[in-house]
Amino acid sequence: MPETTTYVHRFEPGPAPDAASKATSAGADGGTLLLLHGTGGNENDLLPVGRAIAPGAALLSPRGRVLENGMPRFFRRLAEGVFDHEDLVARTHELADFVAESAKRYGFDARRVVAVGFSNGANIAGSMLLLRPESLAGAILLRPMVPFEPKTPPDLRGHRVLVAAGKADPIVKPENSERLAEILRAAGANVTLHWSPGGHTLDRADLTAAAAWWQDG
Ligand code: MLT
Repeated sequence: MPETTTYVHRFEPGPAPDAASKATSAGADGGTLLLLHGTGGNENDLLPVGRAIAPGAALLSPRGRVLENGMPRFFRRLAEGVFDHEDLVARTHELADFVAESAKRYGFDARRVVAVGFSNGANIAGSMLLLRPESLAGAILLRPMVPFEPKTPPDLRGHRVLVAAGKADPIVKPENSERLAEILRAAGANVTLHWSPGGHTLDRADLTAAAAWWQDG
């Protein structure tokens, strides 16, 4: 059997042992957030964000393995917004395998993993939904773009997705965020599209929307 690629990562178990038993869906307390940072970030960046969104969840936070001028990312790109598709596909499988392996290693439920990705991290989370839908119960996609147009839609019934987009985002045009929501909906996902008036940087309203979305699950 091929060895799973390891990532530099942080894992924080959920705080309350009884919280997980109360949970009936991935969006309730319990479950695990897969935290995926943006270009140039690392495994520490989103820990406070994850804790704020879902205080009862475990947190798994890997560092992207691709370096672009020394900046960690989750897959290679040819230019801003122009992705190396072959690398994206390979890295998506690598990350999904790491999550499955981590579930065994740390003892969390692999069926109750929700990704929280920002920018480049949101793009690989979107790719996981399209290529490995079984690896995520849902996703909070913060400033994502369409990672690629799937030839055949995956089956995303039962998956919840929050797309948090910025009306004035200079990197992701509003039509692109809308197209992503459309692709995910066509595949059967329950998609909430949240608009911030701002740009590519997150604001407080994004986090409030993400926490409310999590609570609703
Ligand atoms: C990407 O490369 O995933 C997007 O251009 C977002 C970014 O990381 O700037």
